[in-house]
Amino acid sequence: MVIQRTFVMIKPDGYSRGLVGEIISRIERKGLRIIGMKLIKMSREQAEKLYSVHRDKPFFKDLVSFVTSGPVVVMVVEGESAVEVMRIMIGSTDGRKAPPGTIRGDYALSIQENVIHASDSPETASYEISVFFREEELVS
Ligand code: CMP
Repeated sequence: MVIQRTFVMIKPDGYSRGLVGEIISRIERKGLRIIGMKLIKMSREQAEKLYSVHRDKPFFKDLVSFVTSGPVVVMVVEGESAVEVMRIMIGSTDGRKAPPGTIRGDYALSIQENVIHASDSPETASYEISVFFREEELVS
C-alpha cells in the first residue's frame, strides 16, 4: 500500500461551467481525501512555475493566459496510489480522445480547455504542491 499526495487543479473552464462540485464529488467517492483546497485567481508567476516544464512549447503563452483567465480550484489529494489513480480518473489530455467515464472524457472537447490538471508523477506532485501550499496549510 502506497499512500501518495498529488496536486489537482480545476481549471477556469471547469469553474465557470459549474463543475467544481461534480469533480470534488468524484474524487471523494473514489475514496481519495482532499487535505488542502483553495479557490484562487492564479498569478502569472504561479502559472509559469506550475507549467515551467512546458515553457519551450508553442502553446505555453496561451496556456498561461488560459489558467490565469479566471478562478481555479487548487487541491492536494491524498490516498492509495493517488498520483496514478487521479491521472486515470482525469483521462488523456485531449478531451476529444479521453474515454467516457473520465472527467475530461465526460466534460471536455479541447486539448487546452480540458477542465482539470493532475500531477503526472510523485516528484512533479511535490513540486506542484509547493507552488500553491505550505505544509502547515495541509490537514493531516
Ligand atoms: P495539463 O494536464 O494541465 O498539462 C499541460 C497543459 O497544457 C494541458 O493540460 C493542456 O491544457 C495544455 N496543452 C497540452 N498540449 C497542448 C497543445 N498541443 N495545445 C494547447 N494546449 C496544450
